Amino acid sequence: MAHPDPRPVSVHSAPRLAGRIRVPGDKSISHRALMLSALAVGESQVEGLLEGEDVLATAAAMRAMGATIVRGDDAIWRINGVGVGGLLQPQAALEMGNSGTSTRLLMGLVASHPITATFTGDASLSTRPMNRVIDPLSTMGAEFTASPGGRLPLMVRGLCPAVPITYRLPVASAQVKSALLLAGLNTPGITRVIEPVPTRDHSERMLAGFGAEISVEESDEGRIISLTGEAELRPQSIVVPGDPSSAAFWMVAASIVPGSDVVIENVGLNPTRAGLVTVLRLMGADIVEQDPRVVGGEPVADLRVRHAALSGIEVPHDVAPSMIDEYPVLFVAAAFASGRTIARGADELRVKESDRIAVMKAALEANGVPCEEHEDGLTIEGTGGDPIPGGGTVASRLDHRIAMSMAVAGLHAAQPIAIDDASPVATSFPSFFDLLTQLGGRVTWA
Ligand code: S3P
Repeated sequence: MAHPDPRPVSVHSAPRLAGRIRVPGDKSISHRALMLSALAVGESQVEGLLEGEDVLATAAAMRAMGATIVRGDDAIWRINGVGVGGLLQPQAALEMGNSGTSTRLLMGLVASHPITATFTGDASLSTRPMNRVIDPLSTMGAEFTASPGGRLPLMVRGLCPAVPITYRLPVASAQVKSALLLAGLNTPGITRVIEPVPTRDHSERMLAGFGAEISVEESDEGRIISLTGEAELRPQSIVVPGDPSSAAFWMVAASIVPGSDVVIENVGLNPTRAGLVTVLRLMGADIVEQDPRVVGGEPVADLRVRHAALSGIEVPHDVAPSMIDEYPVLFVAAAFASGRTIARGADELRVKESDRIAVMKAALEANGVPCEEHEDGLTIEGTGGDPIPGGGTVASRLDHRIAMSMAVAGLHAAQPIAIDDASPVATSFPSFFDLLTQLGGRVTWA
């Protein structure tokens, strides 16, 4: 799986990391802000939007379906929506690039509009399973023509009016939940999603913020989310908090590089996203929340992270959904802990931008870190704080989080770590390497 324009990079050991940095806007919230604004009637404004390739793919798709989306010189995005039910037939295939969130959520939107859309993506996205959204959206009445195994390229023919359903999520997936809620927006009656295990709740929060009738009830079966369809969304002003999944790299980097003292400003700490903070603290990390506040309806704080001796632990399974994107960098933290870290119960890692269990095992072993692979995770032997050997080359496999996690590992390695292609970093965190150098790290571009 190759990028058309690969960017090899080597990351060198850093003496210490220090400084204050700000991470870009939350990717999940940015996608949702564009989609819901595009469905409101009137102008919404979004500040702090993540300007990464994945989110730009969502913006392009919403434009192709009729919304006006403009970025001002003040970096505020102004979106004039078409209204729920008002999406237009796109004239060309919707190119989703690397973005699973854009694809699955937009499939939901299209499913209940009287339009047909084709979704295409890069080599990574074209291997990812879409039946998890195709199945329930078909029950609502949409029709799909997909590539073998329910993959991209695929075509969705929406049904209007669609049929409201009650659906119990068979996998803990915020993307599947959100696809159904977005389909439910233009569906008469009540669409219900039951989630046995809580996943990120940005869709629920933002739908309520835009004026949709949505309720969340805790029951023996889990969370029951009920959305009343044929909603009218009111335009909003949204401030997107910093992405905890991007902050994660610096939390681990500052924890493993001796002498480090880093403040990461404006980090979203929604409890459905903050699992890594909990797990790093269980390992002994020194993370202090400063100036806790609420930004755009989400809890936010500045995080001061100082180097600390980490200990290997057995990672509790129930935190997995609240840190599902952070496992690659948790594996890196484990490589520097004393003793063994067992991180299991995360089989969803197999179907992310890459198979993150197999790809991280290969990446760590190529750099001298012993790992054992399980169907649902890894067991990793740590150095007890010493540098890892390094000196290997990492295949990033079109997966931004593999590239960034192994770049962090390179900051405390005896030999530089080479990454065959850092270009995927642009999907979620275009300023990653600038921040790495700003904090005192060193990279060389081949
Ligand atoms: C996301 C949900 C998660 C996560 C992804 C973003 C979202 O995916 O891994 O990066 O914005 O809803 P799953 O729904 O597949 O768990």
